[in-house]
Amino acid sequence: MHANLEPLTGSWPELEAARARWRYQPAPDCLSGQVILVTGAGDGIGRVAARTFATFGATVLLLGKTRAKLEAVSDLITASTNTEPVIVPCNLAALDDTSAEALLESVATHFGRLDGILHNASLLGPKAPLAHYPSSLFQEVLRVNSFAPFLLTRSLAPALQASESASVVFTSSSVGRRGRAYWGAYAVSKFAVEGLMQVFADEWEHTGRIRVNSLNPGATRTAMRAAAYPAENPTTVATPEERMDIHVYLFEPASRGVNGQALDATQWQGPAS
Ligand SMILES: NC(=O)c1ccc[n+]([C@@H]2O[C@H](COP(=O)([O-])OP(=O)(O)OC[C@H]3O[C@@H](n4cnc5c(N)ncnc54)[C@H](OP(=O)(O)O)[C@@H]3O)[C@@H](O)[C@H]2O)c1
Repeated sequence: MHANLEPLTGSWPELEAARARWRYQPAPDCLSGQVILVTGAGDGIGRVAARTFATFGATVLLLGKTRAKLEAVSDLITASTNTEPVIVPCNLAALDDTSAEALLESVATHFGRLDGILHNASLLGPKAPLAHYPSSLFQEVLRVNSFAPFLLTRSLAPALQASESASVVFTSSSVGRRGRAYWGAYAVSKFAVEGLMQVFADEWEHTGRIRVNSLNPGATRTAMRAAAYPAENPTTVATPEERMDIHVYLFEPASRGVNGQALDATQWQGPAS
């Protein structure tokens, strides 16, 4: 507990309330100068992560499906921080080589490098037994949750390599570490994300410049959680702001050297000393 913290410039009441209970207190400017891409930045955990990263000094690239949501997040960030976010409207179900290469070109032209990617966007899909799972939805969930993170990471690799120290975080789930009935393509897609994390981490370890990890945020109060557990009282579930200590940590210099780890926000006790 850190009840007497100085408020962060540009922070908001929910973040400050959660921050008082964070297990780790990052320096207020720890992400200063960093350029970080956040997918699914228009809503839920991604929206709060993008705002939080900007509050800690990062320039954020806000990628998401719904332009109006991205504009709203961008306006909040512009009004409260001295960073300038960039919006990247993109339906990840339709991402292909051409659009991913265009994103690389744009990032390289404007920033010359990329210091981080938070792969957060996800589609829940139907809660249905695999024996009855519609094949078109199976494909769409895998495209958004697994194929798009692969394509983005692969295509943006030159920009990550141009960073002095870059961090890639794949957002996972408990059902991506142990399968569970009726979680269907979503669970399978998160196993794929864990595989992407392990292979990229191993392939890039020798560079010493790009760390790659996965993070299970755990039960968090968002639209996806409400869709997955409609009978649950949302106030019993942690807010996205409460999950932000580990999110900031994974992109700031303190986590350099942390590579190939499957982390869990609910179990994390702060950086290993
Ligand atoms: N909430 C939890 O309890 C929980 C638990 C474990 C893991 N997670 C993981 O945490 C991450 C965030 O989840 P959340 O609960 O914040 O979900 P959410 O509230 O449903 O938000 C998902 C975000 O992903 C975006 N998205 C979905 N499909 C997209 C597409 N085709 N192209 C581009 N963007 C797309 C959405 O954009 P639009 O709003 O524009 O559609 C939205 O911004 C996910 O990876 C999820 O699997 C969440």
